This record gives sequence, structure tokens and C-alpha cells, in this order.
Amino acid sequence: MIEPIQLSDGVALRLIQPDDAAGIADAYTRNRAHLAPWDPARSPGFFTAAWHANEIPKLLVSHATGASVPMVLATDDSIVGRVNLSNIVRGAFESGSLGYWIDERYTGRGLVSAAVIASLALARGMGLHRVEAGTLVHNLASQRVLEKAGFEYYGMAPKYLRINGSWQDHRLFQILLRD
Ligand SMILES: CC(C)(COP(=O)(O)OP(=O)(O)OC[C@H]1O[C@@H](n2cnc3c(N)ncnc32)[C@H](O)[C@@H]1OP(=O)(O)O)[C@@H](O)C(=O)NCCC(=O)NCCS
Repeated sequence: MIEPIQLSDGVALRLIQPDDAAGIADAYTRNRAHLAPWDPARSPGFFTAAWHANEIPKLLVSHATGASVPMVLATDDSIVGRVNLSNIVRGAFESGSLGYWIDERYTGRGLVSAAVIASLALARGMGLHRVEAGTLVHNLASQRVLEKAGFEYYGMAPKYLRINGSWQDHRLFQILLRD
């Protein structure tokens, strides 16, 4: 069971829950222009509560199987971001991938940095050896978040993800959580 973690400015990091669908749809709608350069192209349906009401149970199944930790950044009455530890692979890898975003009105307050550090503590508690994250080459704010949390740049992946409609190069970062 993952307990909510209070960050600051009334924002908590907590596991996603089934009744978050409307709040998540609102957050993506409010932040459509803010997120567009950094996200995959979205269908119109993605911005509806119905789309997320269908998606959240799948995320919770993935969490129950140990493959991911899907979280939100939330105030008392709204969703203001997402943090996902996904693609968790055990065995010889013991690794997960971290992704995140925050509402434009909440940027620049250290909230994602705090959420990333809290997520690393969770990953360490789960026994993971490594967490990775990738950013677009020009996403300097995201790279700064990773550097502040102790991630190291380890390579460039050409045309790694289809972001905003085109395959784009990414800078890859990792942090080792144990020897
Ligand atoms: C990138 C993002 C997650 C950062 O969240 P945030 O809560 O504002 O981050 P923090 O306040 O914890 O830290 C941001 C750091 O980046 C720095 N920064 C911000 N804009 C910058 C820029 N253009 N160039 C360089 N550094 C920048 C800030 O100064 C801060 O560093 P500091 O603490 O040393 O001053 C947020 O802007 C966001 O959601 N962007 C859109 C989606 C996105 O890019 N997601 C990540 C995809 S990999």
C-alpha cells in the first residue's frame, strides 16, 4: 500500500484512484498547450473523463501485478500532474522508467523535483536497482529535475519516441539505487 506523500503548496503525491478520471481529464484539458510539445499526439477523446475512466482500471491492474506505480499530483480538489513509475522489470534488471508532468500554474516551485525524489525512495523501497528517464534534447527543465535528483546522463537515443507527432531524439538518464 502506497501512502500519500505531502509535498508543498497543498500538493500531494499519491496513487491514482478510479474517481480521478474527471480531474485528470480536466488537468489535461487545462494544460493542453503546456504539454503538447512534450507528449504524444492526443486524440480528442483523450481529453474526456470517459477515456480516463476506462484507462485507470488498467493502470491499477498493472500496479497490482507490480509492473508500475501510477501516481497523481493532487490538491484537495484537483489533479495538477502525473508521475508514473512504469515498465518495472525484475530479475536481472530490477529497473523502472519514470515519467512526470505538472500543471503549468504549479511549475517552478520545486514540486516535480520533490515528487521525483519521493518516487526514488519508493523505488528503493521496492528493491529496484535502477530508475531511468528520457527527455527531449531541448527539455532543459526536465533535465535539471533529473540532475538535481542525482540522475546521470548516459546516452542519446535517436528517434526514440514519437512526441507531438514526430519521432524525436531523447537524452537518457539513469540513477542507481543500490550497489
Ligand atoms: C519539466 C517539468 C516537469 C518541471 O517541473 P517543475 O515542478 O517546474 O520542476 P522544479 O521546479 O522541481 O525544477 C525545475 C528546474 O528546472 C529549471 N528550469 C526551468 N526552466 C528551465 C529552462 N528553460 N532551462 C534550464 N533550466 C530550467 C528551474 O530553474 C529548476 O531548477 P533549479 O531548482 O535549479 O532552479 C514541468 O515544467 C512540466 O511538467 N513540463 C511539461 C511536461 C514535461 O516536460 N514533462 C517531462 C517530460 S520528460
